[in-house]
Amino acid sequence: MKVIITGGTGQLGTYLTQLLKKDYDVYTYSKQELDITDPTHLEEKMTSIQPDVVYHCAAFTNVDQCEEEAERAFMINSFGARSVAAACQSVGAKMVYVSTDYIFDGEKPCPYLETDKPNPLNIYGKSKWLGERLVQLENPNSYIIRTSWLYGKNKNGFVDTMLECARMNKEVEVVHDRTGSPTYTKDLALLLRDIIELNPGVYHVSNTGACSWYEFAQEIFERIGQKRNYVRPITSKDYRVKALRPVNSALQTHYDLPLRHWKDALDAYMSEELFCD
Ligand SMILES: NC(=O)c1ccc[n+]([C@@H]2O[C@H](COP(=O)([O-])OP(=O)(O)OC[C@H]3O[C@@H](n4cnc5c(N)ncnc54)[C@H](OP(=O)(O)O)[C@@H]3O)[C@@H](O)[C@H]2O)c1
Repeated sequence: MKVIITGGTGQLGTYLTQLLKKDYDVYTYSKQELDITDPTHLEEKMTSIQPDVVYHCAAFTNVDQCEEEAERAFMINSFGARSVAAACQSVGAKMVYVSTDYIFDGEKPCPYLETDKPNPLNIYGKSKWLGERLVQLENPNSYIIRTSWLYGKNKNGFVDTMLECARMNKEVEVVHDRTGSPTYTKDLALLLRDIIELNPGVYHVSNTGACSWYEFAQEIFERIGQKRNYVRPITSKDYRVKALRPVNSALQTHYDLPLRHWKDALDAYMSEELFCD
């Protein structure tokens, strides 16, 4: 099977490339190699490779920067995604579009299901939600995979930042009034590999359970033997950022997808990736 991965040097794209290379003929591209806002280049690549599946991991993911560069956010996350979908449609390829929990407004008091109505609060969420709809319009043979709070080896994200603070005996202030589902990129990649066996549609794929950023940080500190009370709770009002974020963006699925609890995934990340190098 031939597979194209866009955003191949990003956090998810890197993992997915490593995983799929074991079984498939994988063509993975950085932004420099394949800019998804260039429809002509996209068409050329699709026509020459004739992929069976395209995993679209490329996106403008800096949530606060999206507020300042709204046009760029929509160019990449919405219209770029539409171009990928159109190119997939022209060669009969399945498309997997990775979307986000930030398409929801956070008003729901429990985790969001695939059937809940999106109502994004920020530009990033709006651009991804428009991307979802454009992709489905262009290519009915597409999979919309909503995920959340990603962490993994290939980017200095939340987990790595917390670990650094814990190792340096540094106290850290973390927001306690935002809830979500932390998701290990490796678990997401495994699910993405297999999801194309199911029918096209919308799927929520995150590790199960939910927590606040504060609880997440405490669990990280505890796992390397550091005191939980080195993590101090603050409100999101005190943590000044440009983009409004949902109070609750935990995800749940209607489908029977094999995903472990976020605490088990965190254990796995820390033992497999951090302590084995
Ligand atoms: N990270 C999260 O917590 C999270 C949560 C929910 C959903 N998601 C979604 O998951 C997907 C993967 O996220 P990630 O964390 O892996 O993001 P990431 O690390 O920021 O990777 C995104 C990749 O896309 C590339 N890119 C940006 N503009 C592009 C363009 N015009 N053409 C081609 N490539 C372009 C980036 O290249 P440069 O670095 O060179 O710009 C980067 O390599 C995204 O769709 C994101 O919306 C992420």
